[in-house]
Amino acid sequence: MSWLEERIAELYHEMTRWRRDLHPEGRGGPGVLSERPPFFKTYENGTPVISLPRPAFTGGMSLWQSLHIRRSRRRYIPEPVSLENLSQLLWAAYGVTATKGENFYRSAPSAGARYPIETYVVVNNVDGLTAGIYHYEVRGHRLEQLKVGDFSAELRSIGLGRPVFQNVGAVFVLTAVIGRTRWRYREIATWAVYIEGGHIMQNLCLAATALKLGSCPIGAFFGDEMDNLLGLEGKEEWAFYVGTVGRVREIAQEPEEWLDWELLDGEIKARGS
Ligand SMILES: Cc1cc2nc3c(=O)[nH]c(=O)nc-3n(C[C@H](O)[C@H](O)[C@H](O)COP(=O)(O)O)c2cc1C
Repeated sequence: MSWLEERIAELYHEMTRWRRDLHPEGRGGPGVLSERPPFFKTYENGTPVISLPRPAFTGGMSLWQSLHIRRSRRRYIPEPVSLENLSQLLWAAYGVTATKGENFYRSAPSAGARYPIETYVVVNNVDGLTAGIYHYEVRGHRLEQLKVGDFSAELRSIGLGRPVFQNVGAVFVLTAVIGRTRWRYREIATWAVYIEGGHIMQNLCLAATALKLGSCPIGAFFGDEMDNLLGLEGKEEWAFYVGTVGRVREIAQEPEEWLDWELLDGEIKARGS
């Protein structure tokens, strides 16, 4: 790593965590922006809107089983994901779970309940949905159709040519609308938003597993090119995390990959701890 690269990483680390000298009140202090940015993003009137089926709040695979069998899956079969499943995944990942006054609480926690992340879906193979790029309009649990077309070649190129985008059903792209969290947490916002993305991605992957779909979190993609694909300027809102979802032949991997408790016990005993 060059001196400059090291220094950038150090500065980022030093400046994006809580510091007694900068944040004595421990609450982030007054925001850098005087006006609170809107909590939600919606596209202009005239953008086609697609209603989604209501998600289920009960039933399904148990959480324990989903945790047990979740694995990152990168090879999908060319069969469609159902619209019901897409709807369930959007809700499970970052949908609204409760309302209180003007607050909408979501399936993933958020620092200061700012909810700075937007979800986009590049649809490749979903039953009953035209291939294209959509924005999740979370309050209405519906999709705004931004572009129509097959973007699988673009995705593959943006994603460093990796085969994970082949036969994918849908690609979830998380974006940071940084102003929402900066308004309260200033320079710490970036740190918070990336952590929040992890919560959402885990929700997505566990939900996909519970629906017997394959999923994979993807960090290796060219951010500026993904911003362009979504039509984002990249400064106030940028793409930072991608999750692929697709049909797989079998959800669970080979049995020998499962955790062997006896082996683990033996390992612990051998180490004497
Ligand atoms: C932040 C993050 C970025 C990742 N980026 C990629 C990626 O770009 N490509 C990929 O194939 N897997 C990616 N993964 C998946 C990891 O390779 C995977 O989680 C790891 O190998 C452990 O396997 P498991 O998810 O099956 O438990 C990423 C995971 C995380 C948490």
